[in-house]
Amino acid sequence: MMTVGIEKMRFATSNLYLDMTDLAHARGEDPNKYLLGIGQTEQAVVPPSQDAVTLAANAAEQLLTKQERAEIAEIIVATESGVDHSKSVAIYVQRLLELNRYARAIELKQACYSGTFGLMQARDYVSLHPDKKVLVIATDIARYGLNTSGEVTQGAGAVAMLVSANPQIAVINDDSQFMTADIMDFWRPVDHDKALVDGKYSANVYRDFFKEVWQRYQDTTGLTLTDFDAMVFHLPFTKMGLKALRDVLPETDEAHAASLLAAFEASRVYSKRVGNLYTGSLYLSLLSLLANDTQLRGGQRIGMFSYGSGAEGEFFSLTLAPTFKAGLDVLGMEKLLDQRQQLSVPAYEELFEGALWGSADQKAQSKQDPAHFVLTGVQNQQRQYRRQT
Ligand code: CAA
Repeated sequence: MMTVGIEKMRFATSNLYLDMTDLAHARGEDPNKYLLGIGQTEQAVVPPSQDAVTLAANAAEQLLTKQERAEIAEIIVATESGVDHSKSVAIYVQRLLELNRYARAIELKQACYSGTFGLMQARDYVSLHPDKKVLVIATDIARYGLNTSGEVTQGAGAVAMLVSANPQIAVINDDSQFMTADIMDFWRPVDHDKALVDGKYSANVYRDFFKEVWQRYQDTTGLTLTDFDAMVFHLPFTKMGLKALRDVLPETDEAHAASLLAAFEASRVYSKRVGNLYTGSLYLSLLSLLANDTQLRGGQRIGMFSYGSGAEGEFFSLTLAPTFKAGLDVLGMEKLLDQRQQLSVPAYEELFEGALWGSADQKAQSKQDPAHFVLTGVQNQQRQYRRQT
């Protein structure tokens, strides 16, 4: 039987970060609230030389061979940080990466959920056309505002995935359960550059959606928690996933619960250091699990819970391929995180408020950014991007 899934994955983030202990001191909070209560240690800070387009292009740049660039059939970019009300991020990515002219390109939006829709669309397309490959990128910049309770849950980055009939990392099983309901837990009106959120309510809705789709999943498939070797969650902040996991752990025995908790710890290593990626967070958790869990083996089943405020939830499973490590660049990911530059709280605040955006200094800033692709400014209302390396 033909199987379709994820062949390769890569991750990009900015070269700047803020330490959450520094932020806690600046905001008059006990650092343990941020480090343990929220579960975040560092947060990506975005310079004016990066946006959803460059983050997406930087993630996908490392992913594709020359031949794949020429042949890719669809370019799907999931984001809630788009740079234009009309033109899709996917078209900028197509040009920057010199991707196939005879490809479809589209941007998807539904809060943090749309990366999963993109992945399912890619899976379905390749199932019908097994000789084709689809590029799916989830890219975002999570912004709540200075001195808000959401500030500690900001972050940024992109995850790029190549979906094909050669699922070197994992097969995407055809077992999704999903649900949708009109809920105002988190939203961003079109004239806002920061999200509005009913924080506690959003966390409760997340847990309720997880419990409901997980129950439907079990009812439909006959599988239970014991059939899963790891549960991977959308991580708006890493404690959120832990809460959802703890809600269902009583469904299994103690030894298995301990092993699911250990897998969860592996899955949150990167998110703790980068923060919320919105659409990309679930897929960064998957990357983190694959890179940091030493117990994983081919054939194991991984549960994936996707959540997007507003709200939509989906639960599906992956079956891990024995070759999964070959689809990753673990050293590259560690290097990317370790080589970032730490910012002071005042320097972060200046960048956050966009002091340099659109100014002559923006060009200078882009020269200091080591990323492959940078935004150098806006001319005649048109964004200017440059390949540096
Ligand atoms: N040591 C250890 N823990 C401490 C502590 C200390 N000194 N002080 C406090 N804590 C704990 C608290 O007990 C609490 O833990 P529990 O939730 O397990 O009880 C935790 O730290 C957080 O404390 P508060 O609830 O008081 O935090 P807060 O009111 O400042 O806000 C938040 C937390 C609501 C998550 C806020 O950061 C927020 O609004 N974030 C953005 C919204 C969000 O991420 N929602 C998630 C679901 S929506 C979604 O998933 C989509 C998306 O990506 C946005």
